[in-house]
Amino acid sequence: MAVEKAGVRPRGLTPSCRHRFPIFEQRVYINSCSQGALSDAVRASYEHYLADWDEHGAPWEYWVERGEAARSAFAGLINAAPDEVAVTTSLSAGVSALASGLRFARRSKVVLTDWEFPTIGQIWHAQEARGARVVHVPAEADGTIPLEHFAGAIDDDTLIVSITHICYRNGAMVDVPAVVELAHERGALVLLDAFQSVGSLPVDVRALGVDFLGAGVLKYLLGSAGLGFFYCRRDLVERVWPTQTGWFADENIFAMDHTDYSPAHTAARFQSGTPPVPSIYAGIAGIELMQEIGIPATREHVNALNAHLFEGLDDLGAAVATPRAVERRGALVCVKSTDANELVATLGREGIVTSERDGNLRISAHCYNTVEDVDAVLASLRRHRELLA
Ligand SMILES: Cc1ncc(COP(=O)(O)O)c(C=O)c1O
Repeated sequence: MAVEKAGVRPRGLTPSCRHRFPIFEQRVYINSCSQGALSDAVRASYEHYLADWDEHGAPWEYWVERGEAARSAFAGLINAAPDEVAVTTSLSAGVSALASGLRFARRSKVVLTDWEFPTIGQIWHAQEARGARVVHVPAEADGTIPLEHFAGAIDDDTLIVSITHICYRNGAMVDVPAVVELAHERGALVLLDAFQSVGSLPVDVRALGVDFLGAGVLKYLLGSAGLGFFYCRRDLVERVWPTQTGWFADENIFAMDHTDYSPAHTAARFQSGTPPVPSIYAGIAGIELMQEIGIPATREHVNALNAHLFEGLDDLGAAVATPRAVERRGALVCVKSTDANELVATLGREGIVTSERDGNLRISAHCYNTVEDVDAVLASLRRHRELLA
């Protein structure tokens, strides 16, 4: 078990990128599991969108080209090909399009975990009306889901296993390749919700072996709300027939043909209506900035910050809900609280932005955070020790 070695005061990336995020002039922002900080690049991208609109009126050709640029950026990010990627308005939109295109006749079971984001559970449970049987793999109290729990749930009737990469409630990482191996052995497909991992660590669909992946750009990819993407492995694209659709999913959007349904032969078939053009400008700017800063370097930097955080939390005697092993967690560290809402509000009054879920304080460092930010969080927690469980 690789537990991060503490004691080193990480400097890392921060000096070169922090000045791009003006919020740090006002606050300690350590809440990227919720929303990435606004950069100068993303702000400028919105200004470009407004200028293009103002100057050209309706530059749809260019806007469609921007959508294609986003598709290529997403593909590059996860080691997929552009024709395996749909540009969506949210993670939910891509996953719903997938669910709408599956049939539950030959195999009816959908296996998910107790760590899923609500939208995942809700989308799959909505398929019960269409014959799906949804089963939840339980987590252990120690912040793990042992592989045996998956082995007990995935069987010959399982159509798809829907897992989250990093749990939004406790920061734990699922052993994706191991679950994929188990699922594929039994003929089941695997969907990965990578919203809490993409941008914070390298995500490679080929190395992970997943069949489908959904994510959005507003957290560790530094973009804003309104843009997501969905990956479908090339050989599966034409095996799914989405019934939740729209004209940007058509094989030829410019044909303007309302007399039939001919979905694209690429993963664009998981798209829907008019693309979220302003969010696409911002998403491209966010991804480009994140790639300039470096995702593997960010993972290393945040692991070092979190080693320092774990050490400080141990000194405080805090109960940490996130697994210790580096390969079993993402960027997010969760701390149990007696009143997580009050703790977030208290930190907020001291200029520190965090969030809470499920009774846990969520502390999520990114490329722009410093050891001083972590020290500020720890000092505040020490002052309000009574709010830690
Ligand atoms: C793990 C995870 N999945 C999904 C979502 C939401 O996805 P969307 O609103 O884009 O459908 C979030 C957002 O916080 C998330 O953390």
